[in-house]
Amino acid sequence: MKGREKLCAKLSSAFLRKWWFVVAISILFILLGIIVAIFFMTWVKLVINHQIILKNGTQAFGWWAKPPVTPRISIYIYNVTNADEFLNNGSKPIVDEIGPYIYTESWERKNIRFNDNNTVTYNLQKIYMFDEELSVGSEDDVVVVPNIPMLSATSQSKHAARFLRLAMASIMDILKIKPFVEVSVGQLLWGYEDPLLKLAKDVVPKEQKLPYEEFGLMYNKNGTSKDNVTVFTGASDITRFGLIDTFNGETHLPHWLNEQCNSLSASDGSIFPPSITHNSTLYIYDKDLCRRLPLKFQKEVTREDRVPSYRFAPSPDVFASVAENPDNMCFCPHGPPCSPSGFFNVSLCQFDSPVLLSFPHFYLANDSYRTALDGISPPDPEKHKFYLDVQPMMGTALSARARVQINLAVSQVVDIKQVATFPDIVFPILWFEEAVDGLPEEITNLMRLANEVPPVAHASMTGILLALGIILLIIAVWRLVRGANRLSSLHLASGHVGPTQTKDLPMSNVDRH
Ligand SMILES: *[C@@H]1O[C@H](CO)[C@@H](O)[C@H](O)[C@H]1NC(C)=O
Ligand SMILES: *[C@@H]1O[C@H](CO)[C@@H](O)[C@H](O)[C@H]1NC(C)=O
Ligand SMILES: *[C@@H]1O[C@H](CO)[C@@H](O)[C@H](O)[C@H]1NC(C)=O
Ligand SMILES: *[C@@H]1O[C@H](CO)[C@@H](O)[C@H](O)[C@H]1NC(C)=O
Ligand SMILES: *[C@@H]1O[C@H](CO)[C@@H](O)[C@H](O)[C@H]1NC(C)=O
Ligand SMILES: *[C@@H]1O[C@H](CO)[C@@H](O)[C@H](O)[C@H]1NC(C)=O
Ligand SMILES: *[C@@H]1O[C@H](CO)[C@@H](O)[C@H](O)[C@H]1NC(C)=O
Ligand SMILES: *[C@@H]1O[C@H](CO)[C@@H](O)[C@H](O)[C@H]1NC(C)=O
Ligand SMILES: *[C@@H]1O[C@H](CO)[C@@H](O)[C@H](O)[C@H]1NC(C)=O
Repeated sequence: MKGREKLCAKLSSAFLRKWWFVVAISILFILLGIIVAIFFMTWVKLVINHQIILKNGTQAFGWWAKPPVTPRISIYIYNVTNADEFLNNGSKPIVDEIGPYIYTESWERKNIRFNDNNTVTYNLQKIYMFDEELSVGSEDDVVVVPNIPMLSATSQSKHAARFLRLAMASIMDILKIKPFVEVSVGQLLWGYEDPLLKLAKDVVPKEQKLPYEEFGLMYNKNGTSKDNVTVFTGASDITRFGLIDTFNGETHLPHWLNEQCNSLSASDGSIFPPSITHNSTLYIYDKDLCRRLPLKFQKEVTREDRVPSYRFAPSPDVFASVAENPDNMCFCPHGPPCSPSGFFNVSLCQFDSPVLLSFPHFYLANDSYRTALDGISPPDPEKHKFYLDVQPMMGTALSARARVQINLAVSQVVDIKQVATFPDIVFPILWFEEAVDGLPEEITNLMRLANEVPPVAHASMTGILLALGIILLIIAVWRLVRGANRLSSLHLASGHVGPTQTKDLPMSNVDRH
């Protein structure tokens, strides 16, 4: 028993104490390794989140204020080639898809003002420049398209008193308004004087809609928008980073039936709350879309610039009929009937014009709408699908294809002789693709770095710490065990010559030392 005590005393001698210290260090390394393994990515997230928030003076803020991208909008117009036969002989309308007419855009957020509540307000400026090189055709090309102001007025008058319709017919007679107009591409997009709008402006009381006397599908869109958009900077709540707080002071749209459908809690399409997963739903809001559009994860894509990203797209039932997707009931405030599958009725955002949005070539709509006209090829998801690629860690949009078709839902009104032969039809006018392609190398390099370095750093730091800890532990334990053995034999040796244990041990053993 006494020998044991001595042994213990010897174990904690200076020589061995060193190795106990090494054991402690190695355990510390192992613990650190485990902590790094568990928390490293969380720290990276925190650092990234801190970097991206919108704060005056940061690089991210500069990129947000003046996006270093050159978006392009490509417009394809359905030129009607048999307008007379269609009206007079009841033939199927024939359209010729012409274009693309391409405009390059430059975006800038103007009048940026920071609010006290971690939000920032701006007015978006979009400047469009016609790109003759890329376009097929010129802005002066003449096209024949349905007369949208007129057909809107006649379709709306369907439920009005009969005398009103008759009055309308004679006014249109006097003004020589016809169901199809022949205008240049530039006019169709950027505005031409419309006699009906001019009349309406003079006649209709001021507060009743129609603020313009010109009609154009992109009328007033070239320049700085008057809409005040307030978005969250992410400083207080990163999960709302880049989401709209208010749009012209409103947090919700007035048009739809429930809170969810009226919500404006959506991105403008450039930045999203970071840490996007396969389960995330991204929402984007555009004023002309009249609602926020939910986007779901499709697949992981590795792009040319080697920034791994997630592709998000509207789910196929986003514009489904109420029968297929009961959630869409909220978008049908005056129904039933509600808009058919594949269409979204934006009439409430378009001065009550019967405008239906769809995807190009009636993608995701019943084929009967496409075949009601001649000249539209079957939809091809590659060319006609709407999608957006985001960098999931930072929530930055890398590229996008916003593809939308504008259609006019014409109702037949027999009392108005000009349009008496214009049947009920969903008439496509044009479709466009707004494309953003990749960010400058400066940014993608940073993103690649942010994407590639943390996992490597994570793995190597964890690996090194654990390996170091384990190796040190093994060495220390080995030394301790060996030291203990040697000590015990040393001790035994010294014990033999000592007075207490002389008789216990055979002399021969000791003599060899
Ligand atoms: C559009 O169609 C009309 C005939 O309906 C034709 O005169 C015109 O040249 C066409 N425009 C283009 C750009 O092809
Ligand atoms: C309309 O149809 C009639 C007979 O079906 C034909 O004679 C006439 O040429 C057609 N008109 C046009 C503009 O095609
Ligand atoms: C950002 O800071 C600069 C200089 O400090 C200042 O001139 C500018 O007005 C600020 N911008 C905003 C949007 O507050
Ligand atoms: C933040 O401030 C802006 C401007 O004062 C205001 O429009 C917005 O409603 C506020 N948002 C919140 C969440 O308080
Ligand atoms: C848009 O406005 C800019 C100047 O503000 C002008 O140079 C450009 O031609 C306009 N684009 C179109 C399509 O009208
Ligand atoms: C936008 O804000 C400015 C200044 O705060 C205000 O004068 C203007 O009326 C607002 N515009 C809209 C469309 O609400
Ligand atoms: C995504 O959702 C699925 C099913 O709802 C669930 O099993 C999975 O754990 C979720 N993944 C993440 C990353 O949240
Ligand atoms: C579109 O919505 C308006 C207003 O809610 C409604 O009057 C119209 O009938 C709808 N059109 C279609 C084609 O559903
Ligand atoms: C398309 O519409 C036609 C006629 O309206 C209908 O018979 C057909 O079942 C519809 N097809 C699909 C796939 O819904």
